[in-house]
Amino acid sequence: DKGGHKHFMAKEIAEQPHVIAEAIRHYLPVGEDAVHLPDGGIDFSEVERLTLVACGTAYYACLTAKYWFEKIARIPVEVDVASEFRYREPPIPGKTVALFVSQSGETADTLAALRYCAGKADKILSVVNVAESSIARESDLALPIHAGVEIGVASTKAFTCQLSVLLMLALKAAADRGVITPEDLDANIAALRSLPNVLAAALEQNDTIRQAAQKLSESRDVLFLGRGLMFPLALEGALKLKEISYIHAEAYASGELKHGPIALIDKHMPVVVMAPRDALFDKSVSNMQEVMARKGKVILVSNADGIAEASDGVASCIQMPDIHDNLSPILYAIPAQLLAYHTAVAKGTDVDQPRNLAKSVTVE
Ligand code: F6R
Repeated sequence: DKGGHKHFMAKEIAEQPHVIAEAIRHYLPVGEDAVHLPDGGIDFSEVERLTLVACGTAYYACLTAKYWFEKIARIPVEVDVASEFRYREPPIPGKTVALFVSQSGETADTLAALRYCAGKADKILSVVNVAESSIARESDLALPIHAGVEIGVASTKAFTCQLSVLLMLALKAAADRGVITPEDLDANIAALRSLPNVLAAALEQNDTIRQAAQKLSESRDVLFLGRGLMFPLALEGALKLKEISYIHAEAYASGELKHGPIALIDKHMPVVVMAPRDALFDKSVSNMQEVMARKGKVILVSNADGIAEASDGVASCIQMPDIHDNLSPILYAIPAQLLAYHTAVAKGTDVDQPRNLAKSVTVE
């Protein structure tokens, strides 16, 4: 049942305020001022290293979580795609926690990577949607994301629920290690509690995003740029676009532009810049100007302040509500998903069942 939507993907994008409220309610019960984990949880105070492993969109959730765990909880983090990790057989030093992220909980490479870590890592954690899955069963602690069944092959609500749970886990780790002030923790928790309403406001930009997507649908290639927390999100935006619209899309950390990809820029190249007005904004703007100086068509996704400051010469702007910097990747996932969705609809591709793809990759 698509609930009145044309595709499951549209339904699942629209469900995000609701399912994220669910995820948050499980980890931050009403009236509580700390993050609660199921089944005895985990104490991060002695953890020296975190290894995050996943595939595809779940891997981008891990890349985002690296920024959070390092910045908020001050834990060194390594992130790898499961297919590389498992055959590289990396050393796992003492006091390492290994964390596996998987919507299905059955991805063959992720499961093999988990089995490699069993008996080596101090603790095996997983962040899963399917609670009865192999990955959940074989972990010491499985953290459900409460996204509900995801039918669209391209992952949407599972991604933002993974991010929400990973951010809450990073906040818990920071509290365990005494590296976050009570004020900071409160501000993050308040922002998480407001997130469902903020996501609902972002979904109201649907028409603007559809118009921007018309331009993308006529392109052969699209570049996504982002810095900091917006870099993994740029990767996710490019993956979503190529998966369902079959348009070639790539993402770069904005600072890498000069080191090669700027050679691609001409008037036929749309460049999606994900840049809330944060500490790195000015640097993103100067990268954006380098793109426009070479006639690249910029789609700027930012908040009101960012757009007021930097929309000169930009082909289109998508305005997001204001949010705590730490939560920006969860919010900016909405325009990334909707851009891909509307581009695919404009091209007439099979949004829910893209060619050559399977929802769950249980063979390598
Ligand atoms: C992208 C997508 C895939 C999955 C990947 C991992 O939209 O859906 O990249 O994210 O195959 O799947 P899970 O999370 O089930 O391990």
